[in-house]
Amino acid sequence: MKIRVHATIANFGPGFDVFGVGIGEPYDELSFRESSEWEIRVKGHDVPADVRNTAVVAARALAEMAGEEVALRMKLRKGIRPRSGLGSSGASSLAGALAMARVLGVEDERLILRAAMEGERAASGSAHGDNVVPAYYGDFTILESYEPLRVRRIPVDFDVVAVLPAVEIPTSEARRVLPPKIPLKDAVRNIALASSLVLALKENDLKAVGRLLDDRIALPYRKRLMPWYDRARKAALEAGAYGFSVSGSGPAVFAVGGDVAQIGKAVAEAFEGFGIEVDVYVTKAGRG
Ligand code: HSE
Repeated sequence: MKIRVHATIANFGPGFDVFGVGIGEPYDELSFRESSEWEIRVKGHDVPADVRNTAVVAARALAEMAGEEVALRMKLRKGIRPRSGLGSSGASSLAGALAMARVLGVEDERLILRAAMEGERAASGSAHGDNVVPAYYGDFTILESYEPLRVRRIPVDFDVVAVLPAVEIPTSEARRVLPPKIPLKDAVRNIALASSLVLALKENDLKAVGRLLDDRIALPYRKRLMPWYDRARKAALEAGAYGFSVSGSGPAVFAVGGDVAQIGKAVAEAFEGFGIEVDVYVTKAGRG
């Protein structure tokens, strides 16, 4: 049996730890079968090929939650680069949880997503759901609450370009730079951005979506890990993007609107100016 899980753009501008959307490319593929012991082989990007792999962590978590003693033999084709900001650990986690769900006949979505979040906890120290939830549904997703797990969804379908520079920023590090408190005016601005963005998506107003892709919770503090951010954003906007932001905790960035292939080229050139190579994914939002 085989499962494909797509990359995701978590946060999607102002929705820190709340918003996310599935995108068409890149993706992970997991083949699996029931076995007497745990085994995982990995092709593609370099991730642990043992029980530390988030696919194994999440699959084990689901077996434990279901009170079953089952192991899996897995083959992971790792298409999403780890520590990229494109939901790499979340995709493998969800693939592992879905594989175990298939083997055990588990259909409870919340249980599957909870198990996948355990993979996230193992990878970054935080069991955030804004990658595994949009990876599961594909839609634009809003995590209304974690406990109990409540998700709201808006089906979307628009062009997006994700640009992944050849640098790594582990989510754990990108979370360490965040302050415990933020100024009230930033919180107010983020509420305005996030609430307006949800309406803009619902109304399919991509120009407004682009304009609202800002963030005052994480981005101001994370920019110091991404010295190229402002230059890349300027290049995207000059090439006609409606908006630009960081994907998840970075370093990947994304843009919407206009000719996304052309925008991807412009952003890639901006990175070249810093001597950084990139992978460019011209793809669709609303896939999972
Ligand atoms: N919401 C998480 C963060 C996403 O920004 O830390 C990590 O991909």
